[in-house]
Amino acid sequence: MNAHFALLPGDGIGPEIVQEARIALDAVADRYGHDFSYSEHPIGGCSIDASGDPLPAATIEACRRADAVILGAVGGPKWSDPEAPIRPEDGLLAIRKELGLYANLRPIKTFEALVDASPLRRDIVDGTDILFVRELTGGIYFGGSTTSDGGDTVVDHMRYTVAEVERIVRFAASAARKRSRRLTSVDKANVLEVSRLWRRVTLRVMAEEFPDVALETVLVDAMAMHLLSRPRDFDVVVTGNLFGDILTDEASMLPGSLGLLASASLGDGALGVYEPIHGSAPDIAGRGIANPLGAILSAALALRHSLGLDTEAEAVESAVDRVLTAGLRTQDIAAGGAAIGTAAMGAAVAEELRAENPL
Ligand code: NAD
Ligand code: IPM
Ligand code: MN
Repeated sequence: MNAHFALLPGDGIGPEIVQEARIALDAVADRYGHDFSYSEHPIGGCSIDASGDPLPAATIEACRRADAVILGAVGGPKWSDPEAPIRPEDGLLAIRKELGLYANLRPIKTFEALVDASPLRRDIVDGTDILFVRELTGGIYFGGSTTSDGGDTVVDHMRYTVAEVERIVRFAASAARKRSRRLTSVDKANVLEVSRLWRRVTLRVMAEEFPDVALETVLVDAMAMHLLSRPRDFDVVVTGNLFGDILTDEASMLPGSLGLLASASLGDGALGVYEPIHGSAPDIAGRGIANPLGAILSAALALRHSLGLDTEAEAVESAVDRVLTAGLRTQDIAAGGAAIGTAAMGAAVAEELRAENPL
């Protein structure tokens, strides 16, 4: 297959980890006889520095022409002044909105080799396999804000429409149908009017269209606790933009590190943006020690969801599993033991991919 990837490395550790995702894709191409090509485009802080725009029109056009987009991370202290009129994060939000990527899949699965690296006990985390479906183009991120009282009063609007809730619930429930047919919807319906709309629409869509999928509704504060005490009880979890952002960073401690988690941002077409859920990690950027596995596993999601290459996606996931089983660790998952760098971890995954017997 011929496929073109738009690479958007971004800021901080973004370029370091996207490089390793590309190396993994090259290994897949060699191994399975595909022809993958790549082009790099600016987004985020580096793009503000270059052109004043965190998402230039040329970047978005290149993404539209590509088969899949691999993104690193944006942001950093250089652009974090609260007075700044334009921010790297604006570019990230804009690409999601422009491409209509309303569904953000964030799988949270423990790796057997790392179960003892989690800050949580083995008997709690072992066997965790949750698919978070985070609504990505609505909610408080996109409701706009108002400032009054000469700047003394600021309001961010949390906004959802019936149509936005319907489509994300359908997306999540369809995913649940292919798994254990259980869906958990997380909201704050005891306080927020917008969550009551979310709950009402969810109950209706599930009753009318997914009677075969068991629905449970959980309040977000309790969910934050349940995730750490009984994570195995959850299968597919659907929630709004802000709650999904927070709960998935929390859930990254189940497998053991933010650096391990991948995501797929999808809409109604085949095009998707694939990025690790972590940020630009300014505290470790430029040192070659970041964990590239979240980015590499995001490339696996691109193979599966945008290109339909399920076997290849599984090969990447299994190669990651094997390097972890072999004991290779970046510093974030080394628990104080011996650690290798970003490039060595990427090379190990690529080597495993090339060494593998045909599936
Ligand atoms: P962060 O996710 O960048 O880092 C949080 C912590 O996790 C840090 O200690 C970091 O070193 C560690 N970490 C993250 N990724 C890692 C990896 N691959 N390997 C090892 N350790 C890793 O969050 P932050 O520090 O709160 O945010 C920094 C910047 O990133 C901010 O500007 C923020 O807006 C931005 N951000 C961007 C994205 C994105 O582009 N998708 C996501 C989250 C945050
Ligand atoms: C993420 C990030 C972004 C978000 C920020 C950087 C805009 O935290 O992708 O999880 O909040 O969606
Ligand atoms: Mn986040």
